[in-house]
Amino acid sequence: MQFEKIRGFAFDLDGVIADTARFHGQAWHQVADQVGTPWTAQLADRLKGVSRMDSLEMILKAGGHENDYSQQEKVQLATAKNDNYLRLVETLTPADILPGMKNFLDELREKDYLMVLASASKNAPKVLQYLQLSDYFVGIVDPVTLSHSKPDPEIYLRAAELLKLPPAEVAGVEDAQAGIKAINGAGELSIGIGTGLKGADICFASTADVSLDKLLELK
Ligand code: BG6
Ligand code: MG
Repeated sequence: MQFEKIRGFAFDLDGVIADTARFHGQAWHQVADQVGTPWTAQLADRLKGVSRMDSLEMILKAGGHENDYSQQEKVQLATAKNDNYLRLVETLTPADILPGMKNFLDELREKDYLMVLASASKNAPKVLQYLQLSDYFVGIVDPVTLSHSKPDPEIYLRAAELLKLPPAEVAGVEDAQAGIKAINGAGELSIGIGTGLKGADICFASTADVSLDKLLELK
């Protein structure tokens, strides 16, 4: 896909702008221990970008516990995870913006690209406030209004609507495989952060490597 047409960006938050993927991981690790599912790096990776309740279902299934908990107990487990997560994110400051991302957002803003947030996290507005980045975004997709989790393209299609742009003029930025799939499914340009991501139009090894100049080289 070409970069020339791009006029707006839809950003994932956890693991792209903020160093919060580790907090989600830490909080889910506790849940995994509690339900007796072995915690592995692979499981942690598969949970990236996945909604709260879907993440819990994946953790239960990974340990063969999918039929062991009532709906009410599942809500309690997810609520406890979120309470722990919130205690961890409370400590966030602008110093927790991932390397290079503040510069990148500044560059984009300077060049009049529009930006929205396409995070599955219900805590995203709060996290942006802690990072003092709320002003950069013309909108935040509200995950509560979505019917499908990433890798479904719904969140990125909604991001394009918020940007008031056709999907072909939008670039999505993601650190998770589910997210790259969602961007591609929406017909947007996919920018991957990290190694081992499949199917991204362009990939950067880390946030520190992302720059507008490198994207412009795509033509
Ligand atoms: C995504 C994270 O951004 O948001 C997932 O990558 C997380 O790890 C999901 O489960 C939902 O977040 P929250 O904050 O609403 O529980
Ligand atoms: Mg992410």
